[in-house]
Amino acid sequence: MFFLLPSSLSFLSALLLLQSPHAVTSYKSLSESFLRAIPSPGSDIDPLTGPLLAPILIPRVPGTPGQTKVQHHFVNLFRSELPNWSIEWQNSTARTPISGGAELPFANLIFRREPPWVKPGQANLLTLVAHYDSKYQPEGFVGATDSAAPCAMLLHVARVVDKHVQRMYDEMQELGEGGSVEMDMGIQILLLDGEEAFEKWTEDDSLYGSRALAQQWSLSPNPPSAKFYKYRTPMSQISLFLLLDLLGSPSPHVPSYFPTTHWAYQHLSTIESRMRALQLLESSPSTPFLPDMDRTTGAHAAISDDHLPFMGGGVEVLHVIPHPFPDVWHSMEDDGQHLDMPTVRDWSKIVAAFALEWLDMMEKIAKWIKAMISLKQTEMSIEIEWMPESYRMD
Ligand SMILES: *[C@@H]1O[C@H](CO)[C@@H](O)[C@H](O)[C@H]1NC(C)=O
Ligand SMILES: *[C@@H]1O[C@H](CO)[C@@H](O)[C@H](O)[C@H]1NC(C)=O
Ligand SMILES: [Zn+2]
Repeated sequence: MFFLLPSSLSFLSALLLLQSPHAVTSYKSLSESFLRAIPSPGSDIDPLTGPLLAPILIPRVPGTPGQTKVQHHFVNLFRSELPNWSIEWQNSTARTPISGGAELPFANLIFRREPPWVKPGQANLLTLVAHYDSKYQPEGFVGATDSAAPCAMLLHVARVVDKHVQRMYDEMQELGEGGSVEMDMGIQILLLDGEEAFEKWTEDDSLYGSRALAQQWSLSPNPPSAKFYKYRTPMSQISLFLLLDLLGSPSPHVPSYFPTTHWAYQHLSTIESRMRALQLLESSPSTPFLPDMDRTTGAHAAISDDHLPFMGGGVEVLHVIPHPFPDVWHSMEDDGQHLDMPTVRDWSKIVAAFALEWLDMMEKIAKWIKAMISLKQTEMSIEIEWMPESYRMD
């Protein structure tokens, strides 16, 4: 006899083999009160004065002082406000068509919050991603939607998640489940460098940072795995790669791009519609930001972006990028003034809610398994099956 969690939970599905049937829990949406409690970034994400966004709205081309300033902004924010997040750099250099044979520096930043009991390589990580570099041309380009605003949104998400994750981890430890079942879930935020092409988008002139990071993470083995821990490389620890790009213009239309993560898209879209119904969002677009619940809008164009090197390594991707692109795309008008701030603040709340719902799942599954164990079935075995299959070692 076995029960499955809803298939929508595909790669977190728990397969339970029990001698006699008992109630089955499921992925629980955040309660209404929880949704209401998710804060807006408010004026902190103001393009002129907001401490999250304003420091990013400068030209920040790799190899220039703007790049360094923005890196410091990110690092300082985590050091001062979010000290329990680890900070890691992943640096590389590469020649570009405009660097005249010289190597330019690219630096990805990785901010990570894991359960306190895990050893390196043991947690699966919800991975939220945006690129922080700006285009070399036109000169003075600040890329507000591309992707200063998405970076600032992720800083807000980190602040929101931090408060709740501490409580979740504390409760898990009290349950005695920490480290004993394989549902150790953490979150990491990747702020990537060198997404933009310097001259013309080609496979070599683009995605400098994400290619370097994906390569490193595919090739670095994690410490030898203990009983439950099956992640061979940092790449395989990524439970979902949620990439934000070109967000901040009014009335975005974001399709569901990939069939294997449509279930995650549906969760994100449901959060949007629940928040709208509760009047927790400020914008009032004629269609939702995430209208593609049935995956029918057809805009499944091949969009090249930072997910590609990770997808090539078998990672599941949820690409949150509008189709069509914003009108200001790659023009000087992609600046702070042209951002639609209600839309920016709404995205910040929607993504924060998604991250909390995801992490909350860990605690709920742990409680459920604890309850099952306490039933003291004589012949009960529990097997938690993690996807993707290719990463399983037994
Ligand atoms: C950081 O983690 C420690 C240990 O879990 C905890 O006691 C402390 O309150 C946390 N600090 C913050 C700012 O959350
Ligand atoms: C990576 O580069 C940044 C700045 O470009 C530097 O501050 C940092 O120390 C470097 N980190 C490593 C691990 O090389
Ligand atoms: Zn761009």
